[in-house]
Amino acid sequence: MPGARITAVANQKGGVGKTTTAVNLAAAWAEAGKKILLIDLDPQGNASTGLGIAPQKRNPSAFDFLTQGVFAPQRTLLDNLWVIPASRDLNKILREKPWRDAPDNLLRDALKALLLEKEKRAAETKSEGEASPAAPPHLYDDIILDCPPGLSSLTSNAFCAARSLIVPLQCEFYALEGLSQLFQTVESLRSSVNPDLRIDGILLTMADGRNSLSEQVEADVRAHMGAQVYKTVIPRNVRLSEAPSHGMPATLYDSSCSGSLAYKALAEEIGRRRGGRGGRGRAS
Ligand SMILES: Nc1ncnc2c1ncn2[C@@H]1O[C@H](COP(=O)(O)OP(=O)(O)O)[C@@H](O)[C@H]1O
Ligand SMILES: [Mg+2]
Repeated sequence: MPGARITAVANQKGGVGKTTTAVNLAAAWAEAGKKILLIDLDPQGNASTGLGIAPQKRNPSAFDFLTQGVFAPQRTLLDNLWVIPASRDLNKILREKPWRDAPDNLLRDALKALLLEKEKRAAETKSEGEASPAAPPHLYDDIILDCPPGLSSLTSNAFCAARSLIVPLQCEFYALEGLSQLFQTVESLRSSVNPDLRIDGILLTMADGRNSLSEQVEADVRAHMGAQVYKTVIPRNVRLSEAPSHGMPATLYDSSCSGSLAYKALAEEIGRRRGGRGGRGRAS
């Protein structure tokens, strides 16, 4: 798909730092000048909370985008960062007819339809580039998908739409457990619906420098997964867990805490790996 690069943040385990990563990576890129859209695909809506969208303001939501193509990103405290919030409605995709048996390409088709619509309108009016209340998808540099835990159809929808996958791993004893199942899911979608999907990298989160188990886990993960593991490691940092209750990314709440600095370093590292200049480079 031309236009924005779509990155899913996923791991079927809950509580490993997916949402913290999606929100703070999005914020770090936005602060570096990229135009970012975060789509919250978790019915719990933690990323929406973390970006200051109150529960009563989550309509239209990601559900409306997936099922009806309603595209209504909301502004956040950061100029370059927009969010399509999640509401409990997303559960319907998992549980209720007619969506329960819905295909994995709802999100991809909704994004594709937007692009086509925009191109059609541009051709009709020949007035390309006018400011619109929400930048259409190909004016975003990156779209970040915050996945729910589990390997439900919401996660497969993310994997079907995304080109890159970031897998946060908590620095704990069972970190690698479940990873092979995640990789199998990725492989099966690559060979069926989305051959473009790549694992961008594995991110070690909640590392505790004073804890030898944490260091051992990091060494093990690097030994097993090699260059797939980002050099940047996210430390355990209480500021990262406080920021969401203030409705803002940690990079804004406390820009110089160790967690924020780590997410800014990650944003730069990923930008470099993708061949851009620092955090700003457009994905190749
Ligand atoms: N590096 C970190 N240091 C301290 N707390 C963290 C860190 N990363 C995440 N947390 C906290 O751990 C909990 C789970 O993180 P979260 O990002 O919501 O995980 P997931 O989205 O995978 O369920 C949250 O309360 C979050 O604030
Ligand atoms: Mg989450």
